[in-house]
Amino acid sequence: MIRNKYLESIVSRETYKNLLKYREFLLEYNRKINLISKSSEEIVMNRHFEDSAQLMKFIDKNDKNILDIGSGAGFPGIVMELIKKDLNLDFKIELSEKSIKKCTYLQELCDYLKIDVVIHNDDVRKIKRKSFTTLVSRAFKPIGTFLEIIEQGKISFNKILLLKGESYKKEMNQAEKHWEINCDTYDSITNPASKVFVINSVKRI
Ligand SMILES: C[S@@+](CC[C@H](N)C(=O)[O-])C[C@H]1O[C@@H](n2cnc3c(N)ncnc32)[C@H](O)[C@@H]1O
Repeated sequence: MIRNKYLESIVSRETYKNLLKYREFLLEYNRKINLISKSSEEIVMNRHFEDSAQLMKFIDKNDKNILDIGSGAGFPGIVMELIKKDLNLDFKIELSEKSIKKCTYLQELCDYLKIDVVIHNDDVRKIKRKSFTTLVSRAFKPIGTFLEIIEQGKISFNKILLLKGESYKKEMNQAEKHWEINCDTYDSITNPASKVFVINSVKRI
């Protein structure tokens, strides 16, 4: 069995089995369409699943409706959906993904895992629902561009969680030229060069 210490320590056996089913489905589908890089297939549990799961540290009962923006292969939204019950959380997850092919994959994945998740196959700026308690996103756009897209889409939120790679400093410096960003920054557990940003409010300068 594929092991991951962090995931195994926070989820039940049943949920871990579901995460492995998700992994298998993703790797199989990745032969048909490009969902994750071939080089990350070997380390998918750490690189994608554990990375997504660490966001649960920043989720509590106030996070009721969560929108995952640019969900792609389902990260972090589907991982969060699968593990929420083990953490006594009961939020609703919605996914926003503009690629039709990836939305077909996401729907088939949800059917396979027997989970009920709303999938918006559209540019996030055009989705009908405009109000969420929480926005999450991973490997989507630079921070400043992300904030512009949310503004253009008139999407309201209480909190944003962003998983950011090595370019986080440059991105934040650039974004802070146009936005006053009230946020807390945490080390990523999967990569010492990455960060998790918890944004509590933003204001255009
Ligand atoms: C690099 S992928 C990241 C996927 C996933 N979050 C992950 O961590 O693996 C970015 C995804 O965002 C989607 N995307 C780009 N612009 C978008 C938009 N304006 N609205 C919704 N989805 C968008 C792309 O189709 C792509 O699947």
